[in-house]
Amino acid sequence: MFEDTNIIFYPDPRLREKCRTIETFDDALKALAGRMFELMREHHGVGLAAPQVGQTVRMFVMNHSGKPEDDRVYVNPVLSDPDGDEEAEEGCLSLPKINIDVLRSRDMRMTAQDLDGKPIEQFESGYIARIWQHETDHLNGVLLLNHMGPVQKLSCRKQLRILEAEYETAKKKK
Ligand code: NI
Repeated sequence: MFEDTNIIFYPDPRLREKCRTIETFDDALKALAGRMFELMREHHGVGLAAPQVGQTVRMFVMNHSGKPEDDRVYVNPVLSDPDGDEEAEEGCLSLPKINIDVLRSRDMRMTAQDLDGKPIEQFESGYIARIWQHETDHLNGVLLLNHMGPVQKLSCRKQLRILEAEYETAKKKK
């Protein structure tokens, strides 16, 4: 299950969808999360959201340290209580070779469910809170592009055109 699932790239329209709430906590959901962890590691990412593998449901996986014990899965995540501001560089596995500074909240509260549907509540600051915000954006169809100012857009224009051309070529092959 999900062996053929792979990362999709900008400008695939599935990256722009508002994802559905997950109501069924079954083996298929666990298999999808497992495949997402595999792909995240393979591509050296720190987070991956379900829409980035073409599944428009509200789940993401992350690992901020690379240690297996730091694997985290969030189903139906909701962020609240933002506090402070912090700017730092971010990349995205669906936007290869684009890295931009993004202003995010420093502190966040997360409520979500685990793969069995059990409630989760956590508080984090800094890097983990940043990953939460980036991945939760994906579930609402929001990409790094939405955080870019005109100067950042201009600096990434060439790479965006390359990705758009690659997407068109791949579409024609199907
Ligand atoms: Ni991303």
